[in-house]
Amino acid sequence: MSSLSRRSILSLGAALGLASVAGAVPAWARSAAAGTSTATDPWWVWDDAVDRLVAALLDSGQVPAVNSAMRSWVNNSDPLPDGLPADLAAYLQQVNQLPSWADRTKLRLAADFNRRKDTYLFMLYGLGSGIMSTVIPREATAVYWSAGGANMKDRAAKTFTFGYDLSEVSAFEPTGQFVVTANKTRLVHAAVRHLLPRSPHWRAANEEQIPISNGDILVTFHSLGTFVHRKLLEWHVPMSAADEDAFLHMWQVAIHLLGVRDEFIPRTWAEADAQSAQVLTPILNPTPEGKELAKELLGLTAQVDLGVTRGFLNEFVRYVLSNEIGDWLELPRDYAAAALIRTGWPAYIAFREGLLPVMPAGFYLFDQFVRAIAMLFLNNGTSPTSTPITIPTANRPE
Ligand code: HEM
Repeated sequence: MSSLSRRSILSLGAALGLASVAGAVPAWARSAAAGTSTATDPWWVWDDAVDRLVAALLDSGQVPAVNSAMRSWVNNSDPLPDGLPADLAAYLQQVNQLPSWADRTKLRLAADFNRRKDTYLFMLYGLGSGIMSTVIPREATAVYWSAGGANMKDRAAKTFTFGYDLSEVSAFEPTGQFVVTANKTRLVHAAVRHLLPRSPHWRAANEEQIPISNGDILVTFHSLGTFVHRKLLEWHVPMSAADEDAFLHMWQVAIHLLGVRDEFIPRTWAEADAQSAQVLTPILNPTPEGKELAKELLGLTAQVDLGVTRGFLNEFVRYVLSNEIGDWLELPRDYAAAALIRTGWPAYIAFREGLLPVMPAGFYLFDQFVRAIAMLFLNNGTSPTSTPITIPTANRPE
């Protein structure tokens, strides 16, 4: 782990007001302070049980059979499919359920919140978090050098499936699909932990020895949930305290299902913001891999008729993420579009939310753009042709 990450963990304790009280520093911050790698430091925690199982499946060539068996396993209430090796079935039986602390009332409110705010959410996850992932060096290099990096259209569709299943009204209900999708993703991550260390390219681009630790997953969570929540506040999108709390709870359950230990999961938005400022913001940086991924992702988005120019799309990404990130990704400037977005977007939100009596100029342009991004998301999530999440058996082809 880099010294930066260690420092980040230490200052996270301080940020949460924990370090000043003797004995109140969380165990994982103490281990980081001592410079030791223990199971209480999120950058040294992976997902041991499933990692062992999936590594054995990869080594014995059983993954293709597991992938075919899992094809029919979709809804949360589906029984585990026949044909899974007994140890994998026993493991899935154990984890394919909500944690005991999950609050179904909050999850239902979160689902309703997702429905009410869906257009902003699609926009923020897609053009914000999606592009931000390309300037998170460990994530960008992992994605680029894994099998999925060679086919970003397919990978984006699979990732959309995750977002769609999480945001759906019945996400956590028996008729929903998110619990299963999260478990499939957990298996994919376990395979990546076994496969990527064998890639000389990934090793050359990365300081970590094993990818996707609990710490890495928390970083990605902050680029998704924490970032989106902060933007909604910045954009003055009306939300009740209960909505905000429910949205956090949904993410807490989601990252638990992805294998993050409960003691590492932020308990409040204040903790999440503090953690994000310590572990996400300082590590954002361009990499050759990330720049290429961003180019591909924006190229794929621009293929759809968004009703706006490519310059507008680039400027929207800059508006959502920052000019610094836009410069890192070498997004060409379109100052006229930038000016339009700066004034038109806040007015669009205010009018949509009933806070502005008169329809602002440019309303229809923004509305068409928002709808096109939402359709892109929904089509990829629901299309019967969208590729189901499957466990990879190799890295990016040479
Ligand atoms: C695969 C979501 C964290 C790297 C996936 C997939 C999903 C997903 C849905 C399956 C789609 C596919 O197979 O392409 C998430 C979420 C995360 C998270 C919601 C955290 C909240 C991370 C982190 C890394 C990472 C931290 C690396 C540092 C990968 C890689 C794949 C993958 C390399 C496999 C790509 C392939 O070869 O197909 N992730 N992920 N993920 N994820 Fe994550």
